[in-house]
Amino acid sequence: MDLFNSVDKRYEHKFVRQNPRFLQNMFGSDDLEPFWIADMDLKVAEPITKEFQRLVDRGVYAYEFVEEDIFNSIVDWNKTRHGLDLNSKSFVQMSSTLTGIAVLVRELSQTGDGILIQTPVYHQFAKLIKSANRKIVRNPLKIVDGKYKMDFDDLEQKLESENVKMILLCNPHNPVGRVWQKEELDRVIQIADSYNVRVVSDEIHSDIIYSGNKFTSIVSENNSNHVAVLGSPAKTFGMQSISNGYLYIPGEDLRKQLMDTVDSMYLNHGNAFTSFGTIAAFKNGGSWLDEFLAYLEESIDWIENYLGNEGNSIKMFPVEGTYQIWLDFRGTDLTSEELYATVAKKAGLALTPGSWFDPDSSMFMRMNIASPLSKIQSALERLTVALE
Ligand SMILES: Cc1ncc(COP(=O)(O)O)c(C=O)c1O
Repeated sequence: MDLFNSVDKRYEHKFVRQNPRFLQNMFGSDDLEPFWIADMDLKVAEPITKEFQRLVDRGVYAYEFVEEDIFNSIVDWNKTRHGLDLNSKSFVQMSSTLTGIAVLVRELSQTGDGILIQTPVYHQFAKLIKSANRKIVRNPLKIVDGKYKMDFDDLEQKLESENVKMILLCNPHNPVGRVWQKEELDRVIQIADSYNVRVVSDEIHSDIIYSGNKFTSIVSENNSNHVAVLGSPAKTFGMQSISNGYLYIPGEDLRKQLMDTVDSMYLNHGNAFTSFGTIAAFKNGGSWLDEFLAYLEESIDWIENYLGNEGNSIKMFPVEGTYQIWLDFRGTDLTSEELYATVAKKAGLALTPGSWFDPDSSMFMRMNIASPLSKIQSALERLTVALE
């Protein structure tokens, strides 16, 4: 607990409390400490606030056409942060990342076709596939030597037998925290190409990468009509409710197809706040993010150290990216119902049940760590006691 107190005190005032009404809606009680949803208790970067103040002071909210500036700011950001060369002409603006996935599912497949996901994965993927009347095809990740890996044999088998039209990747992977390596992505592309299947990569968490890991986009080297990327400043800058997403589609034919659909539904329009906020974030939010990532790394060190103690029945998977940690409770003697009740009622915590991400992951839970370390420390201490 003492280890990071100095860091915590310096940084802690930047955190603010989350919306308790949301908690009430999801868990039926607002008397829980929230660590479940993938957003932040952290105040946004100063340049974003300043930009919003400028807009308020200006007091004019007429139509704006600043897409070019938005896309250029994303291009520059990705070049600087990830050494990634993007083309500003290959973007399609979207009202949110999930909207983008919903549109892609409908564009790239027909009713009844298979859409493949790598479970356990962000639960909204399954919901979007199901609500479009497509078939959810699971390609479960496998745990090898304590680390999640893709199962390429199973992937190939599913593409062969399940009428899959689209693979939906999550990179970095929510909730297991992997940052997929180039070799892994190359293999997915190679298999997908051989079955003529499109690969869509949700890269919304791409900027939350920890030391020793490198983010590789699926479009790094592949400009074919086979790939599409989804992105957004939401996770990077804590702009979950004030940002748009975007599609990045290098292949001209596919991009044109998507653009026509998106345009016909009028989905490619932001408002003054989302647009100028995005530009301000990508142009001037770098040092804020560096500070936040440094804080997260220190938090992770503390958590790893704490949970690594012998006798602790909670295990954490190595986290390469995202501000979610994936906790493994298989070492307890509880059933999943007992586990969830213990976490909520005895420890007073709202964590995300693993069953949301995959029916087979019910003995895991996801915890959001974009919170003050002191809160995380006391939460994990309470949880450890509750499980004893
Ligand atoms: C992988 C992933 N994609 C998309 C979203 C939501 O994105 P948006 O709010 O832009 O629709 C989340 C939020 O948690 C996420 O984790």
